[in-house]
Amino acid sequence: MTSVCPSLISPDVTTQSQVSNSPLKLGIMASGNGSNFEAVAQAIENGQLNAQIQVLIYNNPDAYVAVRALKWKIKAVFINHRHYKQREELDKQIVQTLHSYDVEWVIMAGWMRLVTQVLIDAFPQKIINIHPSLLPSFKGVRAVEQAIKAGVKITGCTVHLVSLEMDSGRILMQAAVPVLAEDNPDTLHARIQAQEHRILPCAIALAASGGCGECGECGRCGR
Ligand code: GRF
Repeated sequence: MTSVCPSLISPDVTTQSQVSNSPLKLGIMASGNGSNFEAVAQAIENGQLNAQIQVLIYNNPDAYVAVRALKWKIKAVFINHRHYKQREELDKQIVQTLHSYDVEWVIMAGWMRLVTQVLIDAFPQKIINIHPSLLPSFKGVRAVEQAIKAGVKITGCTVHLVSLEMDSGRILMQAAVPVLAEDNPDTLHARIQAQEHRILPCAIALAASGGCGECGECGRCGR
């Protein structure tokens, strides 16, 4: 039986090694504030993640993440999902954009759209999402509100591979966050986000190392 490495629950971004020495080529997809985008950019800048952000794709013209991209001098491409009748058509445009920027790994950091097989087939096992709950609990929108409403004492965040079913792919890494009696969705989300910013860069390195997230020891179980 494999043991669960504590670093998967309370990970240290400095401990995940990558197999390849060449920087991972990331494409980030985001719809809003972009604090996770910023956390990845900062981890790269600090030398904690050997990667480069090739492009940001965003789908909301007012998304603050676009301002962050400008600050980091990262190319940002606006793709308006409202222009596409079918989700597959939108994903085809996204795939084309990601390929044109030579992206290897797709990171959904607050991307509020469901994906189709088109995107999954273009980047098999190479799409990563972050969700503000301990999956499989509280899938979908308003996960933080769902946790408060359910009265759980511990919630958290999950980084996982993306599959067709929403918030359901293989879990790479999680961090737990206690729910305090005085919490409202904003205060709880702020503490969850602090953990998101820690584990997202770490989970990207884990996924790229071929690690299964099962034992967390070797980082490359190949499952
Ligand atoms: C995060 O809480 C993430 O888990 C969820 O959307 C939020 C995005 O936050 N999928 P930000 O835009 O990165 O600040």
